Amino acid sequence: MNMNSYDFLVIGSGSAGLSFALEVADQGTVGIITKKNKAESNTNYAQGGIATVLDDTDSYEKHVQDTLTAGAGLCDPDVVAQIVKSGPDTIRKLIEMGAEFTSREGKLHLVREGGHSHNRIIHAADMTGREIERVLLARVEAHPNITILEHHFAMELITEHHLGTKVTKYTEDKHCYGAYVLNTKTEEVERVLAKATLLATGGAGQVYLHTTNPEIATGDGVAMAYRAKARVSNMEFIQFHPTALHHPDADSFLISEAVRGHGAILRNSSGEAFMSEYDERNELAPRDIVARAIDDQLKRRGDDYVYLDVRHISKDEMLESFPNIYAKCLEHNMDMTTDLIPIVPAAHYMCGGVWTTIDGETTISGLFAAGEVACTGIHGANRLASNSLLEALVVADRAAVKAREYAKNSALNEAIPEWDDSGTVNTEEWVLISHNMRELQQIMWDYVGIVRSDLRLNRAFRRTKLLHEEVESFYQRTKVSVPLCQLRNMIAVSYLIIKSAMIRKESRGLHYTTDYPEMKDIIEHHNIL
Ligand code: FAD
Ligand code: SIN
Repeated sequence: MNMNSYDFLVIGSGSAGLSFALEVADQGTVGIITKKNKAESNTNYAQGGIATVLDDTDSYEKHVQDTLTAGAGLCDPDVVAQIVKSGPDTIRKLIEMGAEFTSREGKLHLVREGGHSHNRIIHAADMTGREIERVLLARVEAHPNITILEHHFAMELITEHHLGTKVTKYTEDKHCYGAYVLNTKTEEVERVLAKATLLATGGAGQVYLHTTNPEIATGDGVAMAYRAKARVSNMEFIQFHPTALHHPDADSFLISEAVRGHGAILRNSSGEAFMSEYDERNELAPRDIVARAIDDQLKRRGDDYVYLDVRHISKDEMLESFPNIYAKCLEHNMDMTTDLIPIVPAAHYMCGGVWTTIDGETTISGLFAAGEVACTGIHGANRLASNSLLEALVVADRAAVKAREYAKNSALNEAIPEWDDSGTVNTEEWVLISHNMRELQQIMWDYVGIVRSDLRLNRAFRRTKLLHEEVESFYQRTKVSVPLCQLRNMIAVSYLIIKSAMIRKESRGLHYTTDYPEMKDIIEHHNIL
């Protein structure tokens, strides 16, 4: 097997990438490239669970309606219905692979999260993602046709552009032939050819100063697709999770929404439960509402955090349902069953991304996308909790069907040139990268966060443009490295978020601006090129 060409190239080893790989592997060779260790992904940190209709008193219609309500008019109802209806089969498949989800009294235990009208979240205690990643990786590693290349960083998607044809619009006909990939052990850029490529690079939480996402979430997939002139949609809708642990050493560790589903109460510094002032669903209102309520409390009271109160829930129940969260708080000298837990909102999920059909097809032939990097239309202006793992798994499997068909009728494009880094030099200017990254994260946090305004967005746009010019010039002169490529990608993603937010002259779902606090009557989707 040639290690630099495959029938199928998969970029990313989270739930979407691994699931897709398993579905295509019987037809040909599969190369999965992943920039760190194979398990390192947003998937691995998912806590709450997967939303699925499994209870007799629940229905697909209710799950669809809850998703549409959270999505504030921007969901594609057909996509929502199809993904929701695939839920039970998706869970059955994971269980057949060996996934162990929490059961009580012989039945899968279903919990509730914000925006859900029914208990429908299946989970593996508070480490659901780790369990999914575990079973998918075990299958992938056992498959003779699949090769996983760890510490390989995808830098650019290969298209006609690399054969000298200038492509300027996402509407122009173009193809993906693989990717240029930096092997971080040898520091060489490899040309990896494929008949069909799946982008499964996950989200971009790292563009914000405070995020629940691990370091891998730098938006590389969206940035690469944008540079390759794929259609990118709805980037203004960044979800802030209301409850990340506030502690200097806790790195915005997530306290799952399922904790509120178990009855946790949000309290301000005076000890008052404040959510009823904002929404009749109290702590279980959708995330945009809860995050804005917390933001309002912090700004009005000049506080740095609010509290999550679970002291009324028994220790046995906390240990059984949230062993990981309980242990993490204890590590920081907080016992959830006796202490109030300081929390703040943090950037959590990218609802927009590379536009795809429900079958993962992008606007570039041979390029498919699934998972958080993709914008299928299920989430609209705000993702309903625990819908993303479901979407990632369902769309990855559907994309596999299309990619198999596509690969049957296409060949490797050997005319693609090797990476050309002539004229670039090694540099020791790492401070430029680390400083600019901090600056970008601070700009995005201060000006493009939970509450926006024209003034803040314009300021963010100007500052980000300067960073773009500086980093682009540095990139042209410098031998590539992961930190430099990531910074370049984070700037591109920030530009897309800011630009989309500037265009949306209304408040809808996760996009709230003080200059246009009302929602318009018309529905607008924003594609940026
Ligand atoms: P990921 O799982 O993030 O995988 C992306 C992969 O791409 C990684 O392997 C990464 O290393 C690789 N990669 C990225 N860029 C490159 C590159 N340039 N080159 C090579 N490889 C690259 N959703 C739910 O539905 N339920 C939950 O309970 C839930 N809890 C969550 C808790 C936390 C703390 C977080 C952060 C997210 C949570 N989510 C949850 C969201 C959900 O986990 C993600 O949306 C989902 O796992 C995304 O899966 P993915 O396969 O698209 O991406
Ligand atoms: C959580 O457990 O609160 C995260 C769920 C999600 O992001 O869907």
